[in-house]
Amino acid sequence: CGIVGYVGSRPSQDILLSGLARLEYRGYDSAGIAVIDGDGDLGMRKKAGKLAVLRDDLDAHPLAAGTTGIGHTRWATHGGPTDVNAHPHLADDDKLALIHNGIIENFAALRAELEAEGVTFRSETDTEVAAALLGREYRRTGDLEGAFRAVVNRLEGAFTLLAMHEDHPGVVVGARRNSPLVIGLGKGENFLGSDVAAFVEHTRNALAIGQDQMVTITPDAVTVTDFEGNAVEAEPFEVSWDAAAAEKGGWPSFMAKEVSEEPEAVANTVRGRVQDGAVVIPELDGLDELFRDIDRVIITACGTAFYAGMVGKYALEAWARVPVDVELAHEFRYRDPVIGARTLIVSISQSGETMDTLMAVKYAAEQGARTLSICNTQGATIPRESDAVVYTHAGPEVAVASTKAFVAQITALLLLGLHVGRVRETLPADASDDVTGLEALPEKIAQLLDEEQEHVEQLASWMADTRSVLFLGRNVGYPIAMEGALKLKEISYIHAEGFAAGELKHGPIALIEPGQPVFVIVPSPRHSALVHSKVVSNIQEIRARGARVIAVAEEGDAAVLPFADEVIRIPLAGPFLEPVLAVVPLHLFAMGLANAKGLDVDQPRNLAKSVTVE
Ligand code: G6P
Repeated sequence: CGIVGYVGSRPSQDILLSGLARLEYRGYDSAGIAVIDGDGDLGMRKKAGKLAVLRDDLDAHPLAAGTTGIGHTRWATHGGPTDVNAHPHLADDDKLALIHNGIIENFAALRAELEAEGVTFRSETDTEVAAALLGREYRRTGDLEGAFRAVVNRLEGAFTLLAMHEDHPGVVVGARRNSPLVIGLGKGENFLGSDVAAFVEHTRNALAIGQDQMVTITPDAVTVTDFEGNAVEAEPFEVSWDAAAAEKGGWPSFMAKEVSEEPEAVANTVRGRVQDGAVVIPELDGLDELFRDIDRVIITACGTAFYAGMVGKYALEAWARVPVDVELAHEFRYRDPVIGARTLIVSISQSGETMDTLMAVKYAAEQGARTLSICNTQGATIPRESDAVVYTHAGPEVAVASTKAFVAQITALLLLGLHVGRVRETLPADASDDVTGLEALPEKIAQLLDEEQEHVEQLASWMADTRSVLFLGRNVGYPIAMEGALKLKEISYIHAEGFAAGELKHGPIALIEPGQPVFVIVPSPRHSALVHSKVVSNIQEIRARGARVIAVAEEGDAAVLPFADEVIRIPLAGPFLEPVLAVVPLHLFAMGLANAKGLDVDQPRNLAKSVTVE
């Protein structure tokens, strides 16, 4: 969910709505705002559906203007996406409003306790329970901060909460545990947000709040405390991008814009990390001993980031000669993995907030492992909870389906592999070619977009009625096949599956019937003639059974021509760099198909970009 809070001297409604628009990628099944008006009355409006529904409703029936407010855009957990279940939730005779992101695990017990006291509830949400609890505490003491503190100490689970009360215009209180919350510092006004996007158009001065901390903002002051009420120092940072970076800027969709930014995302991630032909990541200064000492790496992530991790495994093992496992964060966390002080956990997360990944990192740290995160969002929770961080510099990614962040994640993993390999003195003699190759990648992606975008989009539009698409890959092409399939599921709602090409004959080949479209990621014959020839054989096997083959192959690879219905050409690159190129047409294809079907490519149904619940 996305959360925004404002206190200042400007009318808050517009500030809340534009903040919510920038946070909508966090959830878009309902939205709501509450405002304390000039007379000190609290007004509230909330609506199921995308933010536009709320906006239209407010246009038709505006709330009284006020300069204190909170807003929320929801991704439903407890209770379906209805008007009633939307946030804010009210309590204390509708004088108090509260919004929430996360899951309150002990809500059933708390609800029973309140019901026993005669409290009635309007919604099915865990949030309303927190609101009612706050109402009860506040009535006892009349002290908003004290009541809020008492409430957060009774909640179990993960939450970001913001609340305000009619009796205290010009005050918004907030708290966080395992869920994101940042402060934006203005002049005579202050902001709270799930991330900096909530307020970046007003200020780039931000404060990061730690776990289990509370904040009170007024127009002129910000106070941060822990859950016991002790003052704590919040960490200031400056947002490195401006509001324009998170705007569509004339593109038909954020996804279209973000795919076009893939070259830049890679370039910015490499920048400043190559010295005299070798990869040196300045942020990892001082960790040489750790890198020499580790005997195992576990990469953990979810969704697209997980597939980036799979590519990372191949490169890290080859360059740093350390065994690497890749595991879905939600699977890793709830078993009994064998880890210890010599295990390095590498987490990958665009948002840095994915709860499954965060829990895996915390769990690993508790077991004594060392943790390093690859993240695209400054000040996010996962990097803050990790021993070290390598930021991807892809810039803000707004479309739910990840594209430029994915290529930046692979790039960061390649940099990490080359850095750790250098420290461990395990790099092969030709590793310098990969360093040069990384620096040349952005231009190659740009060339690929230039040469193939139209072709792939045309292909996608021809295939608008397709019901199922398969993707095959081998070696580093395997995760790319998985990513191609995921992207198609996410935004075009088409059945899609990615397979390791070698696994085909062990089952999936039964799916092949005449006309079945199959993308095949063909590895370069220059890297391994053997692997290349195996994939070409796989193509022949499916072709013989009627598949329609779309080969993604490097320029000049003639071996695929006799068997492919379509060939998408990618420029030449090193073995571990090739996937960064091979994935680009798959991003274009998914987007093209979703567009051809008339779907909302930026906000696909049921999904949210940053899933901050487990
Ligand atoms: C969600 C999104 C996916 C994304 C995954 C991981 O499931 O819908 O597109 O890949 O989270 O997100 P992260 O921010 O951790 O990279």
